[in-house]
Amino acid sequence: MENRDPVVHLDRNFWIVTAVFAVLSAISVWYFGTFDFVRLLPESAAPAGDIDALTRFLLMSSGPLFIFVIGYLLYFTIAYRVRRSDPPDAIGTQIHDNHSLELWWTVIPTIFVVVMAIFSVKIWYNIEVAQPTNGIAVESIGHQWYYTFRYPNVHGEIPNEMHLEVGVPVTLHVTSSDVIHSFWVPTMRIKADMVPGLINTLHFTPLNPGTYKIICTEFCGTLHGEMEKQTVVIEDHAHFTAWYNGWVAKTKNVSDAIAAASAGAIPLTGGSASAGQATFAAKCSACHKIAPFDQKIVGPGLKGILDDPKHPNLVDGQKATPENVAAILQHGYKGDIGAMPDMTANGLSNKDIANLVEFLKNQK
Ligand code: CUA
Repeated sequence: MENRDPVVHLDRNFWIVTAVFAVLSAISVWYFGTFDFVRLLPESAAPAGDIDALTRFLLMSSGPLFIFVIGYLLYFTIAYRVRRSDPPDAIGTQIHDNHSLELWWTVIPTIFVVVMAIFSVKIWYNIEVAQPTNGIAVESIGHQWYYTFRYPNVHGEIPNEMHLEVGVPVTLHVTSSDVIHSFWVPTMRIKADMVPGLINTLHFTPLNPGTYKIICTEFCGTLHGEMEKQTVVIEDHAHFTAWYNGWVAKTKNVSDAIAAASAGAIPLTGGSASAGQATFAAKCSACHKIAPFDQKIVGPGLKGILDDPKHPNLVDGQKATPENVAAILQHGYKGDIGAMPDMTANGLSNKDIANLVEFLKNQK
């Protein structure tokens, strides 16, 4: 059979629809180029602007692509349909080895993919690498069905509400305590899976004050949908500091107790002598008098306990320092002089001990 170039009929109708597609493409490029993403979904943090720019680029380039591909598909389906006058075994024009066509349908998509890759890798770099790390490090843990947040110097997990300060870069580590959840803040345009045993990290900088939803996008059980009631609150320095210091103070007893337990001692700063006097009257005065050492009831008199030349050491042989007095109050003491129960048996808190030491310091 003779091998010749096929005859291609690009008639007047073809050029008319091509012109229509070009106009529609121009309109779609204009529409997506000027589309107001922020009115649709506010931006609450960097990199939301970068993500929106990438989305805009994708829409502006895929709009014309969609219009031409689907448009020609519909046009050719209609233009080259089988007609009643065609013989039953008719087949369409067969085209092989059109080099210029193959060149262009390879070159154009390749250029497009390369540009898209450069654009998105640049944004990815901004999110993952270039974000400043001099801000605050926060952790979020997914639970069935809520989030908790951990902050520096706050003991334990804060439930339900994440507070962040405008303009302070955040390094957020996320994980899960039970099943797979996810951490998605649409207004920040960031998202990470929360996976048990794995820590994922996000970098962002809060920009606009407000209260924004956190949404779980991994089906995690019956109340999966309830997780979107959790919020992130972006606020100014004064409001954030008040909230943060509130949690630091609220959990300070626990933090102090843990610090004391790890250091083996009870912190004595901030003890109140007057509160100590009241505690002494309630819990100690049955066994101790504020009188010289020899005036015992059950235990020795405690007047001048920290400043007694005749008794430079305590009953346990340790030097008479506030820390060592606190240690006896904490652990109790048992010796030939008698037995004193520990802080648990005596019902003393860390604060009580700090107060008692402060009170005894002043009994010279
Ligand atoms: Cu947590 Cu879905």
